[in-house]
Amino acid sequence: MSDGPVSGAGETGAGKFVIVANRLPVDWERTPDGSGRWRRSPGGLVTALEPLLRERGGAWVGWPGTTDPRVGEAPITFDDGLTMQPVRLTGQEVADYYEGFSNATLWPLYHNLIVKPEFYRQWWNSYVEINRRFAQVASESAAPGATVWVQDYQLQLVPKMLRMLRPDLTIGFFLHIPFPPVELFMQLPWRREVVEGLLGADLIGFQRPQAAQNFLWLARELTGQETSRNSVGVRGRFGVVRSGFRSVRVGAFPISIASAEIDQQSKTRAVRTRALAIRDELGNPDRILLGVDRLDYTKGIDVRLNAIEELLEEKRMDPERTVFVQLATPSRERVESYQTLRAEIEREVGKINGEHGQVGRPVVHYLHRPVAREELLAFYVAADAMLVTPLADGMNLVAKEYIACRSDLGGSLVLSEFAGAAAELRQAYLVNPFHLDGVKDSIVAAMEQSSTEGRRRMRALRRQVLSHDVGRWARSFLEALAGQIDETAPLESEEEPA
Ligand code: ADP
Ligand code: G6P
Repeated sequence: MSDGPVSGAGETGAGKFVIVANRLPVDWERTPDGSGRWRRSPGGLVTALEPLLRERGGAWVGWPGTTDPRVGEAPITFDDGLTMQPVRLTGQEVADYYEGFSNATLWPLYHNLIVKPEFYRQWWNSYVEINRRFAQVASESAAPGATVWVQDYQLQLVPKMLRMLRPDLTIGFFLHIPFPPVELFMQLPWRREVVEGLLGADLIGFQRPQAAQNFLWLARELTGQETSRNSVGVRGRFGVVRSGFRSVRVGAFPISIASAEIDQQSKTRAVRTRALAIRDELGNPDRILLGVDRLDYTKGIDVRLNAIEELLEEKRMDPERTVFVQLATPSRERVESYQTLRAEIEREVGKINGEHGQVGRPVVHYLHRPVAREELLAFYVAADAMLVTPLADGMNLVAKEYIACRSDLGGSLVLSEFAGAAAELRQAYLVNPFHLDGVKDSIVAAMEQSSTEGRRRMRALRRQVLSHDVGRWARSFLEALAGQIDETAPLESEEEPA
């Protein structure tokens, strides 16, 4: 992937394939002369879509993640031809649309009310306005008859708005986070508008079949369309909603990672050497436990800290021989629930170390900062047990990254049943994060598994992750969007909504 120089040149309206996401996959980097430049930030989605974007002369539309007025609206063109089209947001818009409606209304509502969602008209109005802006920019970036793929919960109104501007486009939408059970979604004062917004797409993708079922039920109840059970039925992997003269398909497409690439990177000498050095720096403990997350209340970081604390108190975990490393990326730091969470986690880390650590030998090593890619892979290689304990999570890519890094068949994965990844990773130590004793038992089992058992599990996990990568995910979505699906597949039984 190139991160070469950028220019303000680049055409709009020429993209045959356009991605629309809240964020552009770029970071603003200060240069030694005091100015700055864009650098591409690596990520699964951009890795998977980059060849398509380049082949089809596509563009990526998104917010560059800064309100710096020096960042203009001109397209950013990288030297390999990839074009990023910035959407500008003011400070107030970031507060209302991003921190407010996206991350203090929708995020907690879609993650089972772990914190209470807040409903404010001003935030909603801003969400509508910014979705309209994204739709406008996308319509200016797309060539006649182009395919536009809209991503995630921040932009659920874009499909309908874009269709009104550009009926010639083929529009897909993918939700990366869980879609809630119907009775939770029904709390949203603007529930009909959101469902209608999504129905502007030709294909709506979710991580899990149950989410698609929930959406199908809501589409029938809320949009007032003439729908019958048959027209909202499931054909093969797809449900269909008849929206006016159009058919909108709805299905499950579990996302993944660039598995082969991560597998290769994890085998390099640099990563292997660094993994050994990490173990050494940690004092060569018998067991390294690892957590890697954005600092988010959905991730259950408190769950694993509580489990570790009780295991130490019950003397089922030896603080002389075990360390827990928690890498936590700062996230959404101006949102109050994130500030509260951070204070709670840091208090708990201090408490555990205060009671069970020694000078120069803490039990919990906690970093509140992003870690460079190679360093992160070295941590995965070094960890004997990976703790992934979200209370709710669309997929959880960390769990898959860990597996991709374990070509040595070492390590073990403790995984919440409430991560989308649990549907595929059945050989992990699956836990209910609300059942603390169960989590504790699974951590002990994962730490004490025999090498034969560990290898058996990891081999099966790797088979799944390496054969289902993000490229396969993108292809299956785009093929379905282009209509290359088997409409004659037998009807599956419809599940009741959750
Ligand atoms: P979410 O999308 O909710 O943050 P995922 O687990 O699906 O959760 O994806 C998180 C991504 O962020 C992964 O690719 C992971 O490697 C990366 N990441 C998480 N924590 C860190 C960290 N502390 N340093 C660097 N990268 C991180
Ligand atoms: C999740 C969401 C993404 C979001 C990411 C980081 O993965 O599904 O849409 O971009 O978290 O969150 P942020 O608020 O920093 O963009």
